[in-house]
Amino acid sequence: MKSMPAAADAAIEYAVHLLKQGRLVAFPTETVYGLGADASNPDAVKRIFTAKGRPAKNPVIVHIAHYTGLNTWAENVPEPALQLAKRFWPGPLTIVLQKRPEVPLVVTGGQNTVALRVPKHPVALRLLDAFDGGIAAPSANRYCRISPTEAKHVIDELGRKVDLILDGGKCEVGLESTIVDFSGDVPRLLRPGHISQFEIEDLIKCYLYGPNTEADAVRAPGMSPLHYAPVTIALRCPAANLNAAVQLLTGGGKRIGIMTYQSTMSSGNRVRVIRMPRQVDQYAQVLYSSLRQLDALNLDRILVEQPPETAAWSAVNDRLRKATTLV
Ligand code: TXA
Ligand code: MG
Repeated sequence: MKSMPAAADAAIEYAVHLLKQGRLVAFPTETVYGLGADASNPDAVKRIFTAKGRPAKNPVIVHIAHYTGLNTWAENVPEPALQLAKRFWPGPLTIVLQKRPEVPLVVTGGQNTVALRVPKHPVALRLLDAFDGGIAAPSANRYCRISPTEAKHVIDELGRKVDLILDGGKCEVGLESTIVDFSGDVPRLLRPGHISQFEIEDLIKCYLYGPNTEADAVRAPGMSPLHYAPVTIALRCPAANLNAAVQLLTGGGKRIGIMTYQSTMSSGNRVRVIRMPRQVDQYAQVLYSSLRQLDALNLDRILVEQPPETAAWSAVNDRLRKATTLV
Protein backbone atom coordinates (compact mmCIF):
# COMPACT_ATOMS: atom_id res chain seq x y z
CA MET A 1 0.00 0.00 0.00
CA LYS A 2 1.16 3.45 -0.93
CA SER A 3 0.03 6.85 0.31
CA MET A 4 0.39 9.67 -2.19
CA PRO A 5 -0.25 13.41 -1.85
CA ALA A 6 -3.24 13.76 -4.09
CA ALA A 7 -2.41 17.15 -5.58
CA ALA A 8 -0.28 15.64 -8.34
CA ASP A 9 -1.86 14.57 -11.63
CA ALA A 10 0.33 11.46 -11.51
CA ALA A 11 -1.40 10.36 -8.31
CA ILE A 12 -4.84 10.65 -9.91
CA GLU A 13 -3.66 8.82 -13.02
CA TYR A 14 -2.21 6.00 -10.95
CA ALA A 15 -5.44 5.79 -8.92
CA VAL A 16 -7.51 5.50 -12.10
CA HIS A 17 -5.17 2.82 -13.41
CA LEU A 18 -5.60 0.80 -10.19
CA LEU A 19 -9.40 1.21 -10.17
CA LYS A 20 -9.63 0.01 -13.78
CA GLN A 21 -7.70 -3.08 -12.71
CA GLY A 22 -10.21 -3.83 -9.98
CA ARG A 23 -8.00 -2.65 -7.11
CA LEU A 24 -8.86 -0.55 -4.04
CA VAL A 25 -8.11 3.16 -3.74
CA ALA A 26 -8.89 5.17 -0.61
CA PHE A 27 -9.70 8.79 -1.33
CA PRO A 28 -10.74 11.90 0.59
CA THR A 29 -14.24 13.32 0.47
CA GLU A 30 -15.57 16.32 2.35
CA THR A 31 -17.26 13.98 4.87
CA VAL A 32 -14.84 11.10 5.58
CA TYR A 33 -12.33 9.03 3.56
CA GLY A 34 -13.88 6.44 1.26
CA LEU A 35 -12.57 3.00 0.27
CA GLY A 36 -13.17 3.01 -3.46
CA ALA A 37 -13.56 0.35 -6.14
CA ASP A 38 -14.96 0.32 -9.67
CA ALA A 39 -18.73 0.11 -9.04
CA SER A 40 -19.33 -1.72 -12.32
CA ASN A 41 -16.87 -4.50 -11.42
CA PRO A 42 -18.41 -7.00 -8.95
CA ASP A 43 -15.06 -8.62 -8.09
CA ALA A 44 -13.55 -5.24 -7.27
CA VAL A 45 -16.50 -4.35 -5.05
CA LYS A 46 -16.22 -7.69 -3.26
CA ARG A 47 -12.69 -6.70 -2.28
CA ILE A 48 -14.12 -3.74 -0.35
CA PHE A 49 -16.18 -6.10 1.79
CA THR A 50 -13.21 -8.37 2.42
CA ALA A 51 -10.91 -5.46 3.34
CA LYS A 52 -13.43 -3.97 5.78
CA GLY A 53 -14.74 -7.25 7.17
CA ARG A 54 -18.17 -5.93 6.23
CA PRO A 55 -21.18 -8.25 5.83
CA ALA A 56 -22.25 -8.69 2.20
CA LYS A 57 -25.75 -7.44 3.00
CA ASN A 58 -24.53 -3.89 3.74
CA PRO A 59 -24.95 -1.87 0.55
CA VAL A 60 -22.31 0.69 -0.44
CA ILE A 61 -22.70 4.18 -1.87
CA VAL A 62 -21.86 4.78 -5.55
CA HIS A 63 -20.00 8.06 -6.02
CA ILE A 64 -20.48 9.82 -9.33
CA ALA A 65 -18.98 12.95 -10.91
CA HIS A 66 -22.15 14.92 -11.67
CA TYR A 67 -25.90 14.79 -11.04
CA THR A 68 -26.51 14.10 -14.71
CA GLY A 69 -25.04 10.65 -14.02
CA LEU A 70 -28.08 9.79 -11.87
CA ASN A 71 -29.90 8.04 -14.68
CA THR A 72 -26.96 5.77 -15.43
CA TRP A 73 -27.46 4.13 -12.03
CA ALA A 74 -31.06 4.81 -11.00
CA GLU A 75 -34.49 4.65 -12.60
CA ASN A 76 -37.86 6.22 -11.82
CA VAL A 77 -36.05 9.16 -10.24
CA PRO A 78 -38.76 11.30 -8.57
CA GLU A 79 -38.72 15.05 -9.18
CA PRO A 80 -37.87 16.00 -5.55
CA ALA A 81 -34.84 13.69 -5.63
CA LEU A 82 -33.61 15.42 -8.77
CA GLN A 83 -34.22 18.80 -7.16
CA LEU A 84 -32.11 17.78 -4.16
CA ALA A 85 -29.33 16.47 -6.37
CA LYS A 86 -29.22 19.72 -8.34
CA ARG A 87 -29.21 21.84 -5.21
CA PHE A 88 -26.86 19.92 -2.91
CA TRP A 89 -24.45 18.06 -5.22
CA PRO A 90 -21.52 18.16 -5.01
CA GLY A 91 -22.13 17.87 -1.29
CA PRO A 92 -22.63 15.67 1.79
CA LEU A 93 -25.95 14.18 0.68
CA THR A 94 -26.66 10.60 -0.43
CA ILE A 95 -29.85 9.75 -2.30
CA VAL A 96 -31.31 6.22 -2.35
CA LEU A 97 -33.25 5.37 -5.50
CA GLN A 98 -34.53 2.37 -7.45
CA LYS A 99 -31.54 0.86 -9.19
CA ARG A 100 -31.14 0.17 -12.88
CA PRO A 101 -30.92 -3.55 -13.69
CA GLU A 102 -27.23 -3.28 -14.70
CA VAL A 103 -26.09 -2.15 -11.23
CA PRO A 104 -24.31 -5.16 -9.67
CA LEU A 105 -26.17 -6.65 -6.70
CA VAL A 106 -22.93 -6.82 -4.72
CA VAL A 107 -22.98 -2.99 -4.65
CA THR A 108 -26.52 -2.82 -3.32
CA GLY A 109 -26.33 -5.68 -0.83
CA GLY A 110 -28.76 -7.65 -2.96
CA GLN A 111 -31.40 -4.91 -2.87
CA ASN A 112 -33.20 -3.26 -5.78
CA THR A 113 -32.14 0.22 -4.65
CA VAL A 114 -28.89 2.12 -5.07
CA ALA A 115 -27.38 4.95 -2.98
CA LEU A 116 -25.75 7.76 -4.99
CA ARG A 117 -23.68 10.79 -4.11
CA VAL A 118 -21.47 13.45 -5.73
CA PRO A 119 -18.82 14.30 -3.11
CA LYS A 120 -17.57 17.85 -2.69
CA HIS A 121 -13.83 17.43 -2.48
CA PRO A 122 -11.48 18.55 -5.25
CA VAL A 123 -9.51 15.28 -5.15
CA ALA A 124 -12.64 13.09 -5.21
CA LEU A 125 -14.06 15.11 -8.09
CA ARG A 126 -10.82 14.95 -10.09
CA LEU A 127 -10.67 11.21 -9.49
CA LEU A 128 -14.29 10.68 -10.56
CA ASP A 129 -13.81 12.85 -13.63
CA ALA A 130 -10.67 11.02 -14.70
CA PHE A 131 -12.12 7.58 -13.91
CA ASP A 132 -15.24 8.35 -15.90
CA GLY A 133 -17.45 5.86 -14.05
CA GLY A 134 -19.03 5.21 -10.66
CA ILE A 135 -16.84 4.53 -7.63
CA ALA A 136 -18.39 2.34 -4.95
CA ALA A 137 -17.08 3.49 -1.58
CA PRO A 138 -18.02 2.96 2.04
CA SER A 139 -16.07 4.78 4.72
CA ALA A 140 -12.46 3.50 4.75
CA ASN A 141 -12.55 1.91 8.22
CA ARG A 142 -12.92 -1.64 9.49
CA TYR A 143 -16.50 -2.76 10.06
CA CYS A 144 -18.17 -0.98 13.02
CA ARG A 145 -15.17 1.26 13.71
CA ILE A 146 -14.84 5.01 13.59
CA SER A 147 -14.76 6.56 10.11
CA PRO A 148 -11.38 8.02 9.04
CA THR A 149 -11.11 11.77 8.58
CA GLU A 150 -7.37 11.81 7.73
CA ALA A 151 -5.19 9.67 5.45
CA LYS A 152 -3.23 8.31 8.40
CA HIS A 153 -6.45 7.01 9.96
CA VAL A 154 -6.95 4.91 6.81
CA ILE A 155 -3.46 3.46 7.18
CA ASP A 156 -4.20 2.63 10.84
CA GLU A 157 -7.51 1.01 9.89
CA LEU A 158 -6.71 -0.90 6.72
CA GLY A 159 -2.94 -0.79 6.12
CA ARG A 160 -1.93 -3.09 3.30
CA LYS A 161 -5.49 -4.03 2.44
CA VAL A 162 -5.67 -0.82 0.38
CA ASP A 163 -3.64 -0.52 -2.82
CA LEU A 164 -3.35 3.28 -2.71
CA ILE A 165 -4.40 6.11 -0.43
CA LEU A 166 -4.82 9.55 -1.94
CA ASP A 167 -3.90 11.97 0.82
CA GLY A 168 -6.10 15.05 0.63
CA GLY A 169 -5.61 16.29 4.18
CA LYS A 170 -8.30 16.49 6.84
CA CYS A 171 -11.96 16.12 5.89
CA GLU A 172 -13.88 19.34 6.28
CA VAL A 173 -17.25 18.04 7.46
CA GLY A 174 -16.02 15.07 9.50
CA LEU A 175 -19.33 13.15 9.67
CA GLU A 176 -20.79 10.86 7.03
CA SER A 177 -23.32 12.22 4.52
CA THR A 178 -27.03 12.72 5.15
CA ILE A 179 -28.94 9.83 3.54
CA VAL A 180 -32.41 10.36 2.06
CA ASP A 181 -34.36 7.45 0.62
CA PHE A 182 -36.66 8.11 -2.34
CA SER A 183 -37.15 4.48 -3.33
CA GLY A 184 -40.41 3.97 -1.45
CA ASP A 185 -43.83 5.61 -1.11
CA VAL A 186 -42.59 8.47 1.04
CA PRO A 187 -39.15 10.13 1.35
CA ARG A 188 -37.27 9.04 4.46
CA LEU A 189 -34.23 10.33 6.30
CA LEU A 190 -32.06 7.25 6.90
CA ARG A 191 -29.03 9.01 8.40
CA PRO A 192 -28.77 12.62 9.64
CA GLY A 193 -25.75 14.62 8.50
CA HIS A 194 -24.40 18.07 7.76
CA ILE A 195 -27.28 18.83 5.38
CA SER A 196 -30.20 19.04 7.75
CA GLN A 197 -33.71 17.65 7.59
CA PHE A 198 -35.01 21.25 7.48
CA GLU A 199 -32.90 22.25 4.49
CA ILE A 200 -34.17 19.20 2.64
CA GLU A 201 -37.82 19.72 3.60
CA ASP A 202 -37.57 23.39 2.69
CA LEU A 203 -36.53 22.52 -0.81
CA ILE A 204 -38.81 19.59 -1.58
CA LYS A 205 -41.77 21.13 0.29
CA CYS A 206 -42.61 17.80 1.79
CA TYR A 207 -42.23 16.14 5.18
CA LEU A 208 -39.29 13.75 5.55
CA TYR A 209 -40.29 10.62 7.44
CA GLY A 210 -37.93 8.87 9.82
CA PRO A 211 -36.59 5.43 9.04
CA ASN A 212 -39.08 2.64 8.82
CA THR A 213 -37.25 1.09 11.74
CA GLU A 214 -37.33 -2.63 11.11
CA ALA A 215 -37.24 -2.61 7.32
CA ASP A 216 -34.54 0.07 7.21
CA ALA A 217 -32.35 -1.60 9.79
CA VAL A 218 -31.91 -4.30 7.18
CA ARG A 219 -31.68 -1.92 4.22
CA ALA A 220 -29.34 0.64 5.80
CA PRO A 221 -27.33 -1.34 8.33
CA GLY A 222 -25.17 1.69 9.08
CA MET A 223 -27.99 2.73 11.36
CA SER A 224 -27.49 -0.17 13.71
CA PRO A 225 -26.23 0.63 17.22
CA LEU A 226 -22.53 0.16 17.88
CA HIS A 227 -21.47 1.47 14.55
CA TYR A 228 -18.75 4.13 14.59
CA ALA A 229 -17.50 2.97 17.98
CA PRO A 230 -14.05 3.19 19.58
CA VAL A 231 -12.58 0.03 21.12
CA THR A 232 -12.36 1.64 24.57
CA ILE A 233 -15.72 1.63 26.34
CA ALA A 234 -17.11 5.13 25.81
CA LEU A 235 -19.74 6.83 27.93
CA ARG A 236 -21.51 10.15 27.66
CA CYS A 237 -23.07 12.24 30.42
CA PRO A 238 -24.74 15.62 30.87
CA ALA A 239 -22.50 18.54 31.88
CA ALA A 240 -24.08 18.69 35.32
CA ASN A 241 -22.91 15.14 36.14
CA LEU A 242 -19.48 15.38 34.57
CA ASN A 243 -17.45 15.96 37.73
CA ALA A 244 -19.23 13.16 39.58
CA ALA A 245 -18.67 10.81 36.64
CA VAL A 246 -14.95 11.67 36.54
CA GLN A 247 -14.66 10.94 40.28
CA LEU A 248 -16.39 7.63 39.87
CA LEU A 249 -14.51 6.48 36.78
CA THR A 250 -11.03 7.40 38.04
CA GLY A 251 -11.52 5.40 41.23
CA GLY A 252 -9.10 2.54 41.88
CA GLY A 253 -6.30 4.08 39.81
CA LYS A 254 -8.24 3.95 36.57
CA ARG A 255 -7.30 6.22 33.65
CA ILE A 256 -9.87 7.97 31.51
CA GLY A 257 -10.13 10.29 28.51
CA ILE A 258 -12.60 13.17 28.57
CA MET A 259 -14.11 15.15 25.71
CA THR A 260 -15.60 18.27 27.24
CA TYR A 261 -16.48 21.91 26.59
CA GLN A 262 -15.33 22.96 30.03
CA SER A 263 -12.19 25.06 30.20
CA THR A 264 -11.77 24.30 33.90
CA MET A 265 -10.79 20.67 33.24
CA SER A 266 -7.23 19.86 32.40
CA SER A 267 -5.16 16.75 31.75
CA GLY A 268 -3.38 15.07 34.65
CA ASN A 269 -1.97 11.69 35.66
CA ARG A 270 -5.17 9.80 35.28
CA VAL A 271 -7.18 11.99 32.94
CA ARG A 272 -6.51 13.10 29.39
CA VAL A 273 -8.76 16.02 28.46
CA ILE A 274 -9.70 17.10 24.94
CA ARG A 275 -11.43 20.44 24.87
CA MET A 276 -14.26 20.32 22.33
CA PRO A 277 -15.44 23.27 20.18
CA ARG A 278 -18.79 24.85 21.08
CA GLN A 279 -19.65 25.50 17.47
CA VAL A 280 -21.39 22.49 15.91
CA ASP A 281 -19.56 22.34 12.56
CA GLN A 282 -16.20 22.55 14.29
CA TYR A 283 -17.27 19.90 16.80
CA ALA A 284 -18.35 17.56 13.99
CA GLN A 285 -15.06 18.07 12.20
CA VAL A 286 -12.97 16.86 15.16
CA LEU A 287 -15.38 14.35 16.75
CA TYR A 288 -13.92 11.20 15.14
CA SER A 289 -10.27 12.25 15.37
CA SER A 290 -10.77 13.05 19.07
CA LEU A 291 -12.35 9.66 19.78
CA ARG A 292 -9.56 8.01 17.80
CA GLN A 293 -6.86 9.94 19.68
CA LEU A 294 -8.24 8.86 23.07
CA ASP A 295 -8.85 5.31 21.86
CA ALA A 296 -5.15 4.98 20.98
CA LEU A 297 -4.12 5.64 24.59
CA ASN A 298 -5.47 2.35 25.98
CA LEU A 299 -7.44 4.10 28.68
CA ASP A 300 -10.02 2.41 30.90
CA ARG A 301 -12.90 4.59 29.73
CA ILE A 302 -13.70 7.51 27.45
CA LEU A 303 -16.18 10.04 28.84
CA VAL A 304 -17.93 12.50 26.53
CA GLU A 305 -19.82 15.54 27.78
CA GLN A 306 -23.26 15.51 26.18
CA PRO A 307 -23.56 18.30 23.55
CA PRO A 308 -26.77 20.35 23.29
CA GLU A 309 -29.73 18.22 22.28
CA THR A 310 -31.09 20.66 19.73
CA ALA A 311 -31.88 20.01 16.05
CA ALA A 312 -28.61 21.60 14.92
CA TRP A 313 -26.71 18.89 16.80
CA SER A 314 -28.79 15.95 15.55
CA ALA A 315 -26.06 14.41 13.34
CA VAL A 316 -23.42 14.75 16.09
CA ASN A 317 -25.78 13.24 18.66
CA ASP A 318 -26.74 10.43 16.29
CA ARG A 319 -23.05 9.40 16.00
CA LEU A 320 -22.45 9.84 19.73
CA ARG A 321 -25.40 7.59 20.53
CA LYS A 322 -23.75 4.94 18.38
CA ALA A 323 -20.28 5.39 19.88
CA THR A 324 -21.21 5.77 23.56
CA THR A 325 -23.70 4.74 26.21
CA LEU A 326 -25.35 7.21 28.56
CA VAL A 327 -24.32 7.33 32.21
O1 TXA B 1 -20.21 10.45 3.65
C1 TXA B 1 -20.40 9.31 3.28
O2 TXA B 1 -21.54 8.87 2.99
C2 TXA B 1 -19.17 8.38 3.18
C3 TXA B 1 -18.29 8.89 2.05
C4 TXA B 1 -17.11 7.98 1.78
O3 TXA B 1 -19.04 9.11 0.90
N1 TXA B 1 -19.58 7.02 2.94
C5 TXA B 1 -20.18 6.27 3.89
O4 TXA B 1 -20.40 4.97 3.48
O5 TXA B 1 -20.46 6.68 4.99
P1 TXA B 1 -20.85 3.81 4.48
O6 TXA B 1 -20.89 2.58 3.66
O7 TXA B 1 -19.96 3.80 5.65
O8 TXA B 1 -22.30 4.20 4.85
C6 TXA B 1 -23.26 4.13 3.84
C7 TXA B 1 -24.62 3.91 4.40
C8 TXA B 1 -24.76 2.57 5.09
O9 TXA B 1 -25.48 2.74 6.29
C9 TXA B 1 -25.58 1.78 4.10
O10 TXA B 1 -26.35 0.82 4.73
C10 TXA B 1 -26.41 2.87 3.45
O11 TXA B 1 -25.52 3.94 3.32
N2 TXA B 1 -26.84 2.48 2.11
C11 TXA B 1 -26.07 2.24 1.04
N3 TXA B 1 -26.81 1.82 0.00
C12 TXA B 1 -28.09 1.79 0.43
C13 TXA B 1 -29.32 1.42 -0.16
N4 TXA B 1 -29.39 0.99 -1.40
N5 TXA B 1 -30.43 1.53 0.59
C14 TXA B 1 -30.36 1.96 1.86
N6 TXA B 1 -29.22 2.31 2.48
C15 TXA B 1 -28.10 2.22 1.77
MG1 MG C 1 -19.21 3.54 7.42
